[in-house]
Amino acid sequence: MDRRLLTLAALGATLAWSAPSAAQGQLNLYCSVQIEWCQAIATNFQRDTGIRVNMTQRGSGETLAAIRAEAQNPRGDVWFGGTGDPHLAAAEENLTQAYESPNNGQLQTWALTQWRQSNQRAIGVYAGAVGFGFNTELLARKNIAPPTCWADLLDPRFRGEIQVANPNSSGTAYVIIATLVQLMGEDQAFAYMRRLHPNVNSYARSGTGPIKAVARGETGVSLSFVHDAVTERNAGFPVAYNTPCEGTGYEIGSMSILRGARNLTQARRFYDWALTEPAQRLGFEAGGQLQTPSNRNAPLPQGAPDLSQIRLIEYDFAKYGRAAERRRLIERWDREVGALPR
Ligand code: F6P
Repeated sequence: MDRRLLTLAALGATLAWSAPSAAQGQLNLYCSVQIEWCQAIATNFQRDTGIRVNMTQRGSGETLAAIRAEAQNPRGDVWFGGTGDPHLAAAEENLTQAYESPNNGQLQTWALTQWRQSNQRAIGVYAGAVGFGFNTELLARKNIAPPTCWADLLDPRFRGEIQVANPNSSGTAYVIIATLVQLMGEDQAFAYMRRLHPNVNSYARSGTGPIKAVARGETGVSLSFVHDAVTERNAGFPVAYNTPCEGTGYEIGSMSILRGARNLTQARRFYDWALTEPAQRLGFEAGGQLQTPSNRNAPLPQGAPDLSQIRLIEYDFAKYGRAAERRRLIERWDREVGALPR
């Protein structure tokens, strides 16, 4: 059995005796944030409601693939977290369903824009910006100045020193591609990624894989959501981040209820709960995560990147969240970048 599932089975066993769960039913939760946060929401929701939670954690692209594969026989009820583009693609492909929570009124505008753009099928739960994570000790030892602009990453001083994720499995990697396309134009962005390739040592499966590799000193630089760099720094690793001087993209981490959810009442209950201020504090307080929460009353975690201080592009979520556009760009990446020899 997968280690994460084992942990959850153990968690379920611990909670079983304490929660009045049988009458409340269960919830199959697909979760695309880091495992610590997924576990915190599963435990707390179960404790607050008595609803038994079966949680599966996977990257955003992997979850979208699973939901597509299960479309005729849906196994999940609600999908919490992960980058917004695949939630929009799922909405367009009729893999998720519309819902209006009574808690919508507590949310930031960007969270509701996501909800409207998806025909009420996806809602923003957090936001975060793309940037460069780096290992301060490793770069200092190698006498490499940290990158501050996208252009810097092409420099030979970063040869074999950069790690980024694979857009087939990782929503983070797709946001990075869409960001470059919006900043440079599509052909120039692909030319840039081909030139970057010799400096990339690996395309990781998970969006947070590269920053964890930075933390462990396995690579000098990662392309990551910068909130994840702060998580590693707070865990005691010599990690810092910069945001690109040319501007950068961002995510609206989202939540959707799956079409055909077998536990719809429980899914809605979870959805309402996940939008509340106490639930949104859990990302930081129980999971050490530093995204910007979508509930206006939830504070920005201490030390979290302040999005208002970052040069953000006008990320076109409607365009880059379209299923066909997402598929086309990932296929082009597979052909022109992923397939390049090492
Ligand atoms: O949980 C950390 C995080 O960076 C989220 O902010 C983001 O939505 C998610 O990971 C994306 O993960 P992946 O790139 O693996 O889909």
